[in-house]
Amino acid sequence: MRIIDVPASTPYQVHLGTRLLEQAGQLVRTAAGGTKAALITDSNVGPLYAPIVERSLKEAGYETCTFTFAAGEEHKRADTLVDALEFLAAHELDRGDVVVALGGGVTGDMGGLAAALYMRGIALAQMPTSLLAMVDSSVGGKTAIDLASGKNLAGAFWQPRVVIADIGCLGTLTPEQFADGCGEIVKHAVIRDPALFAELELTPPTYELLCGPGGVSRMEAIVARNVEIKRDVVAGDEREAGGRKLLNFGHSIGHAVEACGQYRLGHGNCVAVGMCLMARAAIAQGACAPEFLPRLERLLSACGLATRTDFTVDELYRCALHDKKRAGATIDLVIPHDLGSCDIERASLDGFRALIAQALDSQNAEEDAC
Ligand code: GLY
Repeated sequence: MRIIDVPASTPYQVHLGTRLLEQAGQLVRTAAGGTKAALITDSNVGPLYAPIVERSLKEAGYETCTFTFAAGEEHKRADTLVDALEFLAAHELDRGDVVVALGGGVTGDMGGLAAALYMRGIALAQMPTSLLAMVDSSVGGKTAIDLASGKNLAGAFWQPRVVIADIGCLGTLTPEQFADGCGEIVKHAVIRDPALFAELELTPPTYELLCGPGGVSRMEAIVARNVEIKRDVVAGDEREAGGRKLLNFGHSIGHAVEACGQYRLGHGNCVAVGMCLMARAAIAQGACAPEFLPRLERLLSACGLATRTDFTVDELYRCALHDKKRAGATIDLVIPHDLGSCDIERASLDGFRALIAQALDSQNAEEDAC
């Protein structure tokens, strides 16, 4: 097992390894204490892993209860959150107890927000089971639900007491769900770690890699490196006032692609498209090394991710206006210059619209030429 220390305002540890769910109860007890542990999980993950975690929590002396909601981003919304809060109240959890969010990004975001709100905040343990949640959303304390106007528009910063990532859970993802987590892995490599990018080019993180000889330990190493990158970025800027915004590379356009497609295309795929479009715009403006784009596209494709979109500039711009990275008439964008070299730049909304247009022109011109 690997342990990664996260020096947040309330420091915590990320435990990473195999067969960790069986030991989860003791890890939660050490980090959070309490008498009752409420599991929040979804209808996909609950049947697979909730019984294992419940058993382990009971062995560690907890009384347990489990709230299961219908899986899917479309359920990461206020009524599900209120149901979860009512569930915690009905089971009489008090301020000393703990919420355990067991699942992917949706569960971690919503379970985390339930923990942040219930009795003005109780302890939270994150148990990510998807690749995306392991490398990104379970670390850093962001919690949220979606509103009709946009993704993650209501939320709180609420640090977990512990993160327990059992790499064995990756084996029950579909290849598409696995690929979806790779968008954030590639993003981390671009913004912070050219050596990791080169390693991923040699051995792309795929479901086949996971299932092949040595695949689990290779994925454990990749997840660990990604947690360290995320830890290092958020350590300097827990509440996203500055440097943490680097983690939004590809996300302004990515969230627009997600919203335009009514959340049918996974987050990682949308971020992949967003990163490619940002690279195209930066290259068109002379701000990015041209050889960056083909490397980025090749790696994303090798991971099984999308690199292009059919949405128009009007469609993308309309959806992007609801992005929470917008501040009045401006929006903060992450501009890639090269591997390991990205900047945060404030753009006017008109400038942002022009940038999307430039990126789509570049993408479509290339398609016409083919
Ligand atoms: N997923 C971006 C962040 O945690 O800031």
